[in-house]
Amino acid sequence: MTPEKNTFADLPPLSEYHLSAEARLCLNECSTELDTVLSTLPEHDQLLFKLRQHRWFQNLYDGLAPVYGHRKDFNGFVQKLIDTMAGGYAARPKALKLLDLKRDLQPDWFQHESMLGYVFYVEQFAGSLAKVTDHIDYLDELGATYIHLMKVMQSRDGEDDGGYAVTDYASVDKSLGTNDDLKNVCTALRNRGMSPCIDLVLNHCASEHPWAMAARSGDEHYQSYFYMFDDRQLPDVFEETLPEVFPEFAPGNFTLDEVSGKWVWTTFNHFQWDLNWSNPDVFLEIVDVMFKLANLGVEVFRLDAVAFMWKRPGTDCQNQEEVFDLMQALRTCSRIATPAVAHKAEAIVAPDDLIRYFGVGRHHGKVSNVAYHNSLMVHYWSALASRNTRLMTHALSEFPRTPNSISWATYLRCHDDIGWAIADDDARAIHLDGFAHRRFLSDFYAGEFAGGFARGVVFQHNKVNGDRRINGTFASLAGLEIALEEGNEHHIHLAIERILLGHALICGFGGMPLLYMGDELGLLNDHSYATSPDHAGDSRWVHRPVMNWERAARRHDVSTIEGRLFNGIIAIAQARRRTQQLSARYDTEILDLGHPSVFANINRHPNGSLIGLYNFTEQTQLIRIDHLPDMALLNMVDELEQQQAVTSSGHIHLRAYGRLWLS
Ligand code: GLC
Repeated sequence: MTPEKNTFADLPPLSEYHLSAEARLCLNECSTELDTVLSTLPEHDQLLFKLRQHRWFQNLYDGLAPVYGHRKDFNGFVQKLIDTMAGGYAARPKALKLLDLKRDLQPDWFQHESMLGYVFYVEQFAGSLAKVTDHIDYLDELGATYIHLMKVMQSRDGEDDGGYAVTDYASVDKSLGTNDDLKNVCTALRNRGMSPCIDLVLNHCASEHPWAMAARSGDEHYQSYFYMFDDRQLPDVFEETLPEVFPEFAPGNFTLDEVSGKWVWTTFNHFQWDLNWSNPDVFLEIVDVMFKLANLGVEVFRLDAVAFMWKRPGTDCQNQEEVFDLMQALRTCSRIATPAVAHKAEAIVAPDDLIRYFGVGRHHGKVSNVAYHNSLMVHYWSALASRNTRLMTHALSEFPRTPNSISWATYLRCHDDIGWAIADDDARAIHLDGFAHRRFLSDFYAGEFAGGFARGVVFQHNKVNGDRRINGTFASLAGLEIALEEGNEHHIHLAIERILLGHALICGFGGMPLLYMGDELGLLNDHSYATSPDHAGDSRWVHRPVMNWERAARRHDVSTIEGRLFNGIIAIAQARRRTQQLSARYDTEILDLGHPSVFANINRHPNGSLIGLYNFTEQTQLIRIDHLPDMALLNMVDELEQQQAVTSSGHIHLRAYGRLWLS
């Protein structure tokens, strides 16, 4: 018997997809070349593409139309986009198409409680891309399932903002290897159940990118890829409402390009030229790059600096509505052509704006899959310094609800600085002065506070608003550096407990925790960057140390600091994997226990809730059991240590920096 074959005639009619009349018309008019582009594929592959295209086209149209719909060439643009998607899909290797199918069936894969990220600069961690594969066992030991490889694509020579000044989006940086190496690393990671993530720098490219070089030499086509002005008139208007991202080393938002004689929009450094996303050619270029990288096996794109992608006079040019349209459209392109791929938004903005990166209102749940929980990070460090959780509890309780199809990336350290994003309103609500508290945090983490445990470095002192951001590794900020210098065993113990408290918090919050390279071993601040001409001006390099594999070799010896940290962290990671309440699908709520130094949250799961308790002080704290909701009060088990929680006379005991996951 010959197997039954589906044909195009079996495709569900477009009417089944609830497309708007405009979207349907656009889809029909713009798909005329589609069959030719797909013609090399087996028929079932062609069918699959069309099914996905029809299923998601409305989302795509709804993202594109508000931004580009007014243009006469809109249909021509959509046609090119459809052909690019079909081309990307046609070139997709078989193994990745299988992953696409798996993820069609398990679209919540990145929300699973087994997800755990590990983040590193390739050069610092392994020396080159090819050598990353030598360390996969190490990543596996940690339980990592998501690997963020940093500075992978070609960046400019000299200063390059840590790799975020890209000269070629589609080629691996020559100092790290080749595209084949990237493909091999991705394959090796995938075969071990780890999803590779790389950055896609959406807001800007390097001033040496071929597009910028052409623009400088007067090519009008490429000048329209950027914001270039003949004089200061418009730049001055914009400057009135624009903040400065790097006030110390890159004041202002515009740079005079000597070659073209034009003022160029450069939000970050003078060598990073902002892309003009109102030009649909920019959209097409980036989509093409996205598919090329996805087809090498990249599974997650960290969309860098997305808040800045749209400019509007009279505003701070961040979080503009068009950003969410564009991101929804980009996300939909992946869903249609490379559905295994997830998008992570890097937007370090206030909560009400942050939530929009998951999609609110007409964008609900359609903008990106994952976004950084910057507030959780800031409030961890704030509560740790003040030994007081009231601000943290208040601010995080006020957080808007998220769609249940997304995941927070929870983290406490990354390659960037910490900015004290403490809202004045939140501070006021608990009778604190926001400015004074931010100043206290800067002093504390710069190591300028008498009796403090932290040793960090001030970054970008903003003379206008007084902000001083902070750099430093987890261990140095949490007290290990000073404790080791003192040779004080008790202080070493407390520093380790602070680090483990932090990891329990990000693993127990419900979302995808990201571990930053070296934190699992307690790597300290590394000041050697100051001798490198390309890094000396940017103290973020103090917390981008080279991996110390000799220290890593001590990780199984629990009498060492490395062993205590490493084993502590993998025990937390293992507990996370067996705790189904920690899937990002379930709501995380903040509990106000009325306790000044314990932070509490609850993850509600149909099979029973999980309560996380975190003591931010070096004293034992007691929690009254009858203050906890939803619990079978007598038989509470701590899922972290898999034992009965210690209770007496109606209280739960939390030791110094203790953490409990009660179920
Ligand atoms: C992101 C990166 C940061 C970089 C900036 C500009 O915030 O994390 O390192 O400096 O974008 O590209």
